[in-house]
Amino acid sequence: MTKNMIIGIGAFAAAGAQARAWQLPEVSSKTYPDFEGQNRVAQIAEKGKFHFLFYGDFPGSVPTSNEDAPQMTVDPLISIASAAAHTSHVGFAATMATEWHTPFTIARQFKALDALTGGRTAWNAVTGSSPQAASLYGKTIPSSPERYGRAQEFVQIVQSFWGSWGKDAFDAADGKRIFADYSKVERLSLHGQYLSAQGSLPIPPTPQGQPVMFHSGGSPNSIAFAGRYADVYITEVWDPAQAAEQRRQLREAAVAAGREADDVKFIVGLMPTIADSKREALDQHAYFMEPKYRQQVRYLSMFFNTPLTEADLDKPLSAEALEQAKHAQVGDPRQGIALKVAQEGWSIRDIINHSVIDYHPGVQGTAQDVVDHMVQWYEAEAADGFWLLPDTHDVALTRFVDEVVPLLQKKGLFHQDYEGTTLRENLGLREQYGVDPRILQEGK
Ligand SMILES: Cc1cc2nc3c(=O)[nH]c(=O)nc-3n(C[C@H](O)[C@H](O)[C@H](O)COP(=O)(O)O)c2cc1C
Repeated sequence: MTKNMIIGIGAFAAAGAQARAWQLPEVSSKTYPDFEGQNRVAQIAEKGKFHFLFYGDFPGSVPTSNEDAPQMTVDPLISIASAAAHTSHVGFAATMATEWHTPFTIARQFKALDALTGGRTAWNAVTGSSPQAASLYGKTIPSSPERYGRAQEFVQIVQSFWGSWGKDAFDAADGKRIFADYSKVERLSLHGQYLSAQGSLPIPPTPQGQPVMFHSGGSPNSIAFAGRYADVYITEVWDPAQAAEQRRQLREAAVAAGREADDVKFIVGLMPTIADSKREALDQHAYFMEPKYRQQVRYLSMFFNTPLTEADLDKPLSAEALEQAKHAQVGDPRQGIALKVAQEGWSIRDIINHSVIDYHPGVQGTAQDVVDHMVQWYEAEAADGFWLLPDTHDVALTRFVDEVVPLLQKKGLFHQDYEGTTLRENLGLREQYGVDPRILQEGK
């Protein structure tokens, strides 16, 4: 395993990953959208030598609470165009779904952005699984095999467009009269079961050739798809054993597609709250968990197979309840995490404040606690890196950059500086221009 742990950040909104982050007095971004705030997040990430900012896309999703700021609804390419102009090395991955966009639009927008950012762009190719998002485009969500069938054709067309400007078309340039040999810009004629396209994309190779490919998900079809096309896989896993198994499946899928296991990087989520002590971090995080207590107590009842209400928030689980909880079978990896925290004697309120029921694993503690978590996962080969969802950018992200990054660097696990200027170089990826010929050779 390489000793260059990959670190990225989920750029959901300028204030932080918590929809309520804007309310805190110490958070400067109070509006949405806030391009200046988003530029600042990218600059903090670059100060920390992060590899990328990861922009999800859930167009049209309206928050359920009036206290929450919207997240991931501004077109990510627009945010990136702004943030890239204020940074020089950090990369940008934007999510765009294959169900409702068209291959030519994606090919054109991403290659243009990649050229203009000096080779720092990635496309997170998801199929699109939100019915609300689909209906914005007048679509419904088809079955998984259909979505991934279309996605395969989609990516092959996009990458064919990316490679349609011949690599040596510039060889003819004489600096005065001849700009390029346009006979080397290929006219494509592609026809598949779901999609077709004819023509060229006359945008020359970017400093990294073409955009890097991301994919996010977790289903078997998603893993197979990522094994064939993704350079970076963004996933949702809760414990190192589950992650190591999914990483193994992903690497196996890459080999089955004719690639090498190391060609695809497995990146897991991490929600850090950093303070001077664990107690302080739990109290800080409580602000965001409080509105969820009622719902999360119900989850814990199920996880522990014990009736619990909000009246139990300040009590730890009794010895009998802990014994009973050991035998509960819920089939959710977060159950084991919740039980481990309960066994340490924390109250129900603090078990919830440990983020045991969240989208990704949380660490509420000191910078050293966060480092310990990352080292444990990394050394268990459960992750090639992490994407962070800090509560707030002004506080949690800044503390991560100032306190966690130097500790990781001191351990020799994280780079001291960027290896190059492009995202591909910084992630240690092989060159690619057009469709990966190894995939075509496999006849897939
Ligand atoms: C970490 C993570 C981030 C995701 N981000 C997005 C996103 O921004 N937009 C989107 O439409 N889907 C997103 N998805 C959804 C997945 O692409 C996928 O559709 C979902 O996990 C359902 O799996 P399936 O499509 O393989 O059935 C994300 C999934 C994960 C695990």
